[in-house]
Amino acid sequence: MEFRIDPWGSEIIREYDKLFKFFGIKPFKDILKDLSKFAEPHMLMRRGIVFGHRDFEEVLKALENQERFAILTGLMPSGRMHLGHKMVIDQVIYYQKLGAEIFITIADAEAYAVRKLGRSELIRTAIDEYVANYLALGLDAKNLHIYFQTNYSREYYRLIQLFSRKVSMAELKALYGEDVDPGKIISVLTQAADILHPQLRHFGGFKVVLVPVGADQDPHLRLSRDIADRFSSELGLRRPASTYHRFMTGLDGGKMSSSRPESYIALTDDPEEAGKKIMRSLTGGQATAEEQRKLGGRPEKCPVYEVNAYHLISDDKELENLYWDCRTGKMLCGECKAKTKERLMKFLTNHQSKLRITGELARKIVEAPDF
Ligand code: TRP
Ligand code: SF4
Repeated sequence: MEFRIDPWGSEIIREYDKLFKFFGIKPFKDILKDLSKFAEPHMLMRRGIVFGHRDFEEVLKALENQERFAILTGLMPSGRMHLGHKMVIDQVIYYQKLGAEIFITIADAEAYAVRKLGRSELIRTAIDEYVANYLALGLDAKNLHIYFQTNYSREYYRLIQLFSRKVSMAELKALYGEDVDPGKIISVLTQAADILHPQLRHFGGFKVVLVPVGADQDPHLRLSRDIADRFSSELGLRRPASTYHRFMTGLDGGKMSSSRPESYIALTDDPEEAGKKIMRSLTGGQATAEEQRKLGGRPEKCPVYEVNAYHLISDDKELENLYWDCRTGKMLCGECKAKTKERLMKFLTNHQSKLRITGELARKIVEAPDF
């Protein structure tokens, strides 16, 4: 296969279209109308940022028949939580309000074995940096299970062991590349157990499970679907549904990366500093003000526009106005950035005022591994 997604790579996925063509991911826009029978689609969905899905019809059926459904997603406990990470939790909160039971896995086994992070640091990061921010964003501690991959129940570990019998080296190499090693193998089987375990009797029995992820995680979904098929009669497992979102562009034009603080806005950035990052950001503007008045800006190439579209402006009309003011050259980047800065500082100040309480709550609701 000439086109492989590397879930551990640092490349930006640019060709989202290929995911439809090669891997059979379906456009999310085709089911927006059906979803809107049950709830207003989230702004990330309305704006095509959540762009693809597999088997979302199963979720729609569950909503239609008022059956239980669950969300399972995971976090990598490294670096600081930034706006790129916020997207998945915004969706989780949306589904939680629709009545979904929520499972969130802290991928500490993967962080240790594949990303080679230290244990005490990643445990602290998971709780104080990620879970505390999740709760401050509005994730409800009710109907919520957050667990560390290294510290969960025996039924979950049993899945990893059983799965190992029906997965071949050849398929792992086809999915993850020739250099799969024991650390990666254990990590991907663990992730399959993450994705499939909510269906087990021990966790309340069968329900539709939806996995919202960034597009780089699709190899794990493909493997989990195959494993579900192979264990359908033995364990009663069914394929998970999944959705895929685009990544945010870094403020410096590359991928958002924890090694370059200028590329992202962290949820715990000092609001003034965050505002300065916006003012220094790359834009889709023209070289001179005169040219921009004449030619207009390019919002689809602008990280500042993305911050607004992904996070700060929930009203569609208001975003549309910004889009056209930019495209027609009516508004220049200086003014646009200043307004974005205001919106962002307001959001961060409000968000951070909740963190002290949710930090305490995070330590209470998540059981940390002891080493
Ligand atoms: N591999 C994911 C990442 O790098 C983390 C993860 C582990 C995950 N298990 C998961 C994501 C299950 C979604 C579902 O971020
Ligand atoms: Fe980006 Fe705003 Fe400039 Fe348009 S006006 S290119 S959206 S910063």
